[in-house]
Amino acid sequence: MGVVIINFKAYKEGFGLKGLELAKAVEDVANKVDDYIAIAPISLDLQRFVNELSIDVYSQHVDAVNFGSYTGRINAEMIKEVGAKGSLINHSERRLKLADIDFIVDKFKELELVSVVCTNNITTTAAAAALQPDYVAIEPPELIGSGIPVSKAEPEIVENSVKAAKDVYPEIKVLCGAGISKHEDYVTALDLGAEGVLLASGVVKAKDPKAALEELVGLR
Ligand code: G3P
Repeated sequence: MGVVIINFKAYKEGFGLKGLELAKAVEDVANKVDDYIAIAPISLDLQRFVNELSIDVYSQHVDAVNFGSYTGRINAEMIKEVGAKGSLINHSERRLKLADIDFIVDKFKELELVSVVCTNNITTTAAAAALQPDYVAIEPPELIGSGIPVSKAEPEIVENSVKAAKDVYPEIKVLCGAGISKHEDYVTALDLGAEGVLLASGVVKAKDPKAALEELVGLR
């Protein structure tokens, strides 16, 4: 039993009405298991998904700004107000500067939002842990969307990231992501000391996303 966060990215299947259908399928599965299953949809869908779902909804990104003249930006206060549980921060597809990550993690503590800081290797995982977020999520960029699971292809990255992060900040929870799609990938991640997984294409792009998620959490 662990944590599963599904990032809808900017996939067509994850947006608007289709996205809501997908999110409801995720909710159905979440209601059948003890694992903590949450989603990170496209920002435009945050409010609606929060209103229509009982599972936790995360933003995919927030900007390191307060309110003000910041055209097109989304800040922590905004996602809090629409009811998001937290956000991915510094995803590989939306990198931030170290000072920005620090600003956002601090702001999240103040607003009681859950911070999930994404990293790309063991060194950056240790660096992110020094900022004391709730989670770090290690995702080697070359495996993202590849279908090759990080927990099987590069188990030492997961294991050593867990060690490095906990050495710096013992309370931290570590997720791993990239290429995760099967139950075996998930169980291996947990065996390596991760708290769970962050994934996208394995569920969002699956022919039958509900069946894919059921398989991932061991219901099939
Ligand atoms: O945020 C999760 C993501 O980057 C991993 O993508 O498609 O390899 O599960 P995917």
